[in-house]
Amino acid sequence: MTEQIVILDFGSQYTQVIARRVRECNVYSQILRYDTPASEIAALKPKGLILSGGPSSVYAAKAPLPDQQIFEMGIPVLGICYGVQLLAQFLGGKVEPGQKREYGKGNLAVKDQTCALFAKLPKSLQVWNSHGDKLTRMPKGFKAVATTENSDYAAIENRAKNFFGLQFHPEVAHTPRGREIITNFVHAICGCGKNWNMRNYVEQAVEEIQAQVGQEKVILGLSGGVDSSVAAALLHKAIGDQLTCIFVNNGLLRGREAEVVREVFGRHFHIKLQYENASKLFLDRLKKVTDPERKRKIIGKTFIEVFQKATKRAGAAKFLAQGTLYPDVIESIPIAGNPAAMIKSHHNVGGLPKNMKFKLVEPLKCLFKDEVRQLGLELGLPKEIVYRQPFPGPGLAVRILGEVTPKRCDILRAADSIVVEEMKSSGLYYKIWQSFAVLLPVRSVGVMGDERTYDFTIAIRAVESQDGMTADWVKLPYDLLEKLSNRIINEVKGVNRVCLDISSKPPATIEWE
Ligand code: XMP
Repeated sequence: MTEQIVILDFGSQYTQVIARRVRECNVYSQILRYDTPASEIAALKPKGLILSGGPSSVYAAKAPLPDQQIFEMGIPVLGICYGVQLLAQFLGGKVEPGQKREYGKGNLAVKDQTCALFAKLPKSLQVWNSHGDKLTRMPKGFKAVATTENSDYAAIENRAKNFFGLQFHPEVAHTPRGREIITNFVHAICGCGKNWNMRNYVEQAVEEIQAQVGQEKVILGLSGGVDSSVAAALLHKAIGDQLTCIFVNNGLLRGREAEVVREVFGRHFHIKLQYENASKLFLDRLKKVTDPERKRKIIGKTFIEVFQKATKRAGAAKFLAQGTLYPDVIESIPIAGNPAAMIKSHHNVGGLPKNMKFKLVEPLKCLFKDEVRQLGLELGLPKEIVYRQPFPGPGLAVRILGEVTPKRCDILRAADSIVVEEMKSSGLYYKIWQSFAVLLPVRSVGVMGDERTYDFTIAIRAVESQDGMTADWVKLPYDLLEKLSNRIINEVKGVNRVCLDISSKPPATIEWE
């Protein structure tokens, strides 16, 4: 069994960040619901347990509480924020509402440098706090090892039992040395080795896929995006020609997208690739449709139809592979006021219809996005695919306002290729979340040579974001903007004006439709 740390989730918006930090220490971690029975946890043989933060008060009537037996498992426990308050509550300490909420940067003074959590760290550390309640009496057997301006018990330990508690958040970037605290916990205290990396994962995943699939055939819908591409390469390594990838060209792809997929997967990896050119069908159905929601519905429905027919042509397959990632499968804890629970993507595609009787293979479902990229590189996928920016399922249709026509698609494709090309040569493409062109079908007057023009407008959208949920517009350098504008207006027929979108999300969205 993989050596691991179990994280119990009490609803903090940072729970996934804790899991990622642990994995960055090359230790596997998984997130379980706060009320997972201790016997189930013990069956995983974790080397340590982390209790996450959370928005509740431990003394509240509906406070999420763990199985008390978790403190009897004989493994190290680290409570963070709400987690330390739980430790205190269960083991005989006292938690009360603080005089004032402690929020933001604080200075931690380490009082006992022999505490293993703070090994090799200085006596004074910058930390990030976010809590209202306060530990006012330590549980028996515990000792305060660090303090902040507002708290005498900012870090506590019970050395005999290997129980630790931190009132601040070591997992966030605002606690600059927090990674070292987590490293100390997982390696020095829990005794984990450094076994979790994508090279080892390939071996493990290949075995698991082979065991699950046997001699059966597997189908995968390949979009050319990071997740389906990495899933394809991994499955191919595991089961070779038992895998058929279906790539649907919906006529709404960017320039060269279909070629790159055929080149990389067909000619380079020799993956069985079934190319479905359904451009005409999609574009016919989009004729005269201007409502954004209707466009999305038509595209979604048509995709399922085309994919369903394609799977029949691909022959009898028992399995359907999907590039589901870990954040999609972590059960969110329905705790009032938990932003992580509220921020569930509105784009979650409904999935394929129930009448498609496939069993699922989801070889990425325990990985975070950054791990998927690492895995892609490990499997030999090019940077162009592994680090590509997100591209919406409905493609260029949500970047052409109003009716989508083949001509408008061509104009946008040409302008977008220039944006991608210039963003790549400026070095910014891989540093930001997304950068693309949007076609505004409003005509304005211009002059070109001696001629008067009456053409469309292109808007440039470039945003920075962590997860697409919120975004800031990027202050692109003027010389880059100048190049973009010149090239688009000179090279793309049908465009005589370029604008820059300077809206953040919220209240705007990243895509225009
Ligand atoms: P918005 O426009 O809502 O987009 O700010 C947030 C992120 O989601 C991407 N996006 C989609 N991705 N299917 C997808 O797979 C979709 O229908 C879809 N719509 C938007 C968008 O590109 C951005 O990264």
